[in-house]
Formats: sequence, structure tokens, C-alpha cells
Amino acid sequence: MHTGQLLGSGRTADVYELDGSWVLRRYRDRSDTTEELAVMSYVGAFGYPVPRIGPPADGARPTDLVLQRLTGPTMAEALLAGALGAAEGGALLARLLRELHAIPPRVSADPQDCILHLDLHPENVMLTDRGPVVIDWSTATEGPPGFDRAMSALTLARVALDPEFPAPEAEARTLLAALLAELAGEGGADAADLARARARQWENPFLTVPERDCLDAAVEMVLDCAPPPRG
Ligand SMILES: Nc1ncnc2c1ncn2[C@@H]1O[C@H](COP(=O)(O)OP(=O)(O)O)[C@@H](O)[C@H]1O
Ligand SMILES: [Mg+2]
Repeated sequence: MHTGQLLGSGRTADVYELDGSWVLRRYRDRSDTTEELAVMSYVGAFGYPVPRIGPPADGARPTDLVLQRLTGPTMAEALLAGALGAAEGGALLARLLRELHAIPPRVSADPQDCILHLDLHPENVMLTDRGPVVIDWSTATEGPPGFDRAMSALTLARVALDPEFPAPEAEARTLLAALLAELAGEGGADAADLARARARQWENPFLTVPERDCLDAAVEMVLDCAPPPRG
């Protein structure tokens, strides 16, 4: 199999060009991608914006995924470049969470459960000329939607607290506050959801030590940024 140029790399995968239409998403360390493919095709069938799934590539590894090639910046790149404002970005992330959680569960028998992405943040949204598309479904599962909202909020707060982050903390806080304001109607991210999200992120082997060490401060920041309850 011939893979072309490396188009992008995250913490778990490298994404190579195959041709003008398809990319190969190759994990550095994963034993199974069956569930990830099943979730992507399930939410895609509801019209949720995910990359289309392509035909298996000749000579590919069993865990390689062939996905629709997307063109455009990630939401993180657009925010950093000033092409997307923080308030607008928060509203967009909130909409993507809300629309995902409106889809009925695929396997759970509990009707309160939803499909959860659990890593929906600006690096996992690509802004294409046909609209935003959510990538990186490796952590998707089913459960209560507040857990997903808390995971996104906690990740934004960690970024706001990161001294290496190349944007002013105020911008990152605006993004978080906009997300929480938009999600208030759905229940936002409460202390119990945040405790669960904190525990999940604490166990994430791809977090650096400083990222893990700021988790408690990140939980505090999310609680501080949440709009006051409507009375
Ligand atoms: N379908 C795609 N088309 C084009 N580029 C992509 C596609 N999916 C991912 N990428 C690029 O690869 C990068 C890493 O992809 P991602 O799936 O988020 O991997 P990770 O799990 O390692 O974070 C993205 O930020 C993006 O630049
Ligand atoms: Mg990613």
C-alpha cells in the first residue's frame, strides 16, 4: 500500500493522504477499531457531520481506517488565527454536542443514554467549506450527556490554564464561558459530571504530567465560568 503525505498527527494517530478523496488514519497503538467505525457510520446515518468511511485499503493494517479526506483548518487553528471568534467557537462546540446528544443510543437499553464523543474540543473539529465535521471518534461510547459536556468543558479549561498555550488566557476563558452559557439550558456541566470527567482525564495516558496536575484547577475554572443558575 502506498501512503502519501502526512496530513496531520494527534496524540494517538497519524493521518496520511491516500488520494484526493481519502485519508488513512493509522493508530500508533490500538488493537481494535470496530466500535469506532460502527459509531461513525451510525451517527453519520442520522446526518451528523462525520467523515465518510471508505473502502479498506489494500495492504492496510487491521486497525487502519480509510476516511473521507477533509479540507480546511481545525477549529483550534481557526481560533488561533482569529478566523473564528471565541464566542462563536463556544456556540459551535455547544451545537455539535447538543446535536450528537439528540441521536438515540445505538446499543444502550437506557433511553436516558446518548452517544458520547468524550473528546469533542477544537482540535477534533475540522471546518470544511461544507460546514464543521467532527473527527477522532476513538473515545466514543454511550452514557449520560452531561459527562460529554463536562469532558469538553474540562479540556477547554485545561487549555486555558496551560502556560505554553499560544493564546491569551482570556480568549480561552471566553471560549469556555460561551460553551457553558450555550449549554446551560441542557444542564451544563455539573459537579458530578465534572468529577467523572476529571477521573477519566486523570487516567488518560496521553496527558502530560502538567496537564494532569492542573485538573483540579480546571474543574474549579469550569465551575467559576458557568452562568449562575436561572431562578
Ligand atoms: N479526515 C481527515 N481529512 C484530513 N485531515 C484529517 C482527517 N482526520 C484527521 N485529520 C488531520 O489529522 C489530525 C489528527 O487527527 P485525529 O483523528 O484527531 O487524531 P488523534 O487521535 O491522534 O488526535 C487532525 O488534527 C487533522 O489535522
Ligand atoms: Mg484528535
